[in-house]
Amino acid sequence: MTEERVPSPGDGVAERIVGAIRERTDLRPVAGVVLGSGLGDSISAAWARAGSGEPIEIAYADLPGFPPPTVPGHAGTLWLGTIAGQPIAIFRGRIHFYEGHPMPLASITSRISHGLGARTMVLSAAVGGLDPSLPAASMVVVRDHLNLMGTNPLTGWRYEDGSPAFVDVSGVYDPQLADAALAALRGHGIAVADGVYAAVAGPAYETPAETKMLRLMGATVVGMSTVPEAVAARALGMRVLGLSFVTNAAGGAVSHEEVLLASKTAAEAIGLAVTELADTF
Ligand code: HPA
Repeated sequence: MTEERVPSPGDGVAERIVGAIRERTDLRPVAGVVLGSGLGDSISAAWARAGSGEPIEIAYADLPGFPPPTVPGHAGTLWLGTIAGQPIAIFRGRIHFYEGHPMPLASITSRISHGLGARTMVLSAAVGGLDPSLPAASMVVVRDHLNLMGTNPLTGWRYEDGSPAFVDVSGVYDPQLADAALAALRGHGIAVADGVYAAVAGPAYETPAETKMLRLMGATVVGMSTVPEAVAARALGMRVLGLSFVTNAAGGAVSHEEVLLASKTAAEAIGLAVTELADTF
């Protein structure tokens, strides 16, 4: 019987992908940025504001061990280039737990970013709004989360010395980055609040009863991503900024097409936040 190793630092998975990226570029990003559903246009928004040099884009399919995303709206490429004078890695599409991948693969973007040299992760995501005071199409800067995915993103992780990942998650989201993002978006007249992200496994959305429960638990928004990458990034000692975009009121009727359409308007806001915060990454 061969021993199945859960993907974790030292298993060679992220290292192999980083090696393939290194064959294409020696750019050392200061941050990894993950673009959620329909947010691919964030790159052109940031590029139009403050791009420089010659960016490259690599298909996930060309990265050994990187599962191609199966979700419409997730392009499946890694963009590497310079924004506001800072080298940045932008993942156009992420790996979700709800696609049926093992949980540790849902944090592969953080592991790759770390391997490339980044020390900050910016995690964008489409979410359902739980707080009724959130205006439609607003942004939410994540201050904390509830992991309700039914498993921990670090289950089975081993550090290279074999120890389990007993990670301190009392401060997953960097307060300085969160404050700066709030100020930058407000400064540009974008509707933005801060709050708590409830992560669920999906892919079904929430029932009205589940929506009520999540609100009672103290969540501001609900989504199916962010938390695996955020927790893994903390395990690797990185700073995390969570930028969520409210595509719908949770618990009501919602379609994936509606989510994709509404997300397009958030692309500008994410591009703006990356541009304005790049020198603090
Ligand atoms: N629930 C969970 N995830 C989501 C939602 C929602 O209502 N909208 C976008 N992603």
